[in-house]
Amino acid sequence: MRFDRLIASLGLALCLGAVAGSAVAAKLQGDPAKAAPIVDEKCAGCHGPDGNSPAPNFPSLAGQNANYLLKEMQAYKSQRRSNDMMTPPLEGLTDQDLANIALFFAKQKPTPGTVGNPDLLKLGAKLYLQGNPASGVPACDICHGGDGHGRSYFPRVAAQGVDYSIDQFNQYAHDVRKSGKKIMRSVAKRLTEAEVKAIAEYMASLAP
Ligand code: HEC
Ligand code: HEC
Repeated sequence: MRFDRLIASLGLALCLGAVAGSAVAAKLQGDPAKAAPIVDEKCAGCHGPDGNSPAPNFPSLAGQNANYLLKEMQAYKSQRRSNDMMTPPLEGLTDQDLANIALFFAKQKPTPGTVGNPDLLKLGAKLYLQGNPASGVPACDICHGGDGHGRSYFPRVAAQGVDYSIDQFNQYAHDVRKSGKKIMRSVAKRLTEAEVKAIAEYMASLAP
């Protein structure tokens, strides 16, 4: 690890520990096959039948980590994370349905993302792998992995839709999305608009 990166990470070490501590999760119990008809009826229109979303502003769920998926569905259900499009589909689903759905999407094969502006990838890679010590932005790979696949409660960001990622950074920066750990809100507040675009393109470019 480079020295400047180590220094930038030190400030984070404490909250990192707190986040990682809560990431020790029990393995989800459920049956993904039972989720298939629910997904077909209620989710496929926006997220794709196999969780590979047809639109860049609807998140892809294929291969996403099951613990993360379950946590976010529960957050929408209880309105801690709120979005008008996500409220109706989850109505009436039980906790077991949600666990089954999480396992269903986690085992789908993610397809490659779409890069809109390849010129931004170099800056995006630098930010993702090294952060920006000048503005206190931590490297992203610490939590989301160098390959962007995350683990457990740390979401996969590889091959995600550019528009969706940019929108999430805006929601974090303006405290609209605040169901999760504080870390992403403080990260988003320190990123410029140009940096957000570059990181979103870089995440989309990562192999699924
Ligand atoms: C009408 C379109 C629509 C439908 C139908 C829909 N979703 Fe979504 N979903 C969205 C949008 C848009 C978002 C991003 C919302 C936001 O910004 O918080 C989202 C976000 C999510 C997320 C969070 C993804 C992440 O990476 O954080 C999960 C999980 C999810 N949806 C699961 C489901 C499931 C399960 C169903 C079916 C039961 C479903 N969705 C049906 C549009 C839809
Ligand atoms: C200390 C750990 C940590 C660091 C560092 C971190 N993240 Fe995150 N990130 C998380 C966690 C945990 C979540 C899960 C959702 C939440 O808490 O809101 C998340 C959520 C996200 C999401 C939303 C994913 C989705 O599907 O909705 C994106 C995008 C993201 N992070 C990108 C980044 C980028 C880019 C960086 C670096 C500039 C970064 N993160 C640094 C822990 C971290």
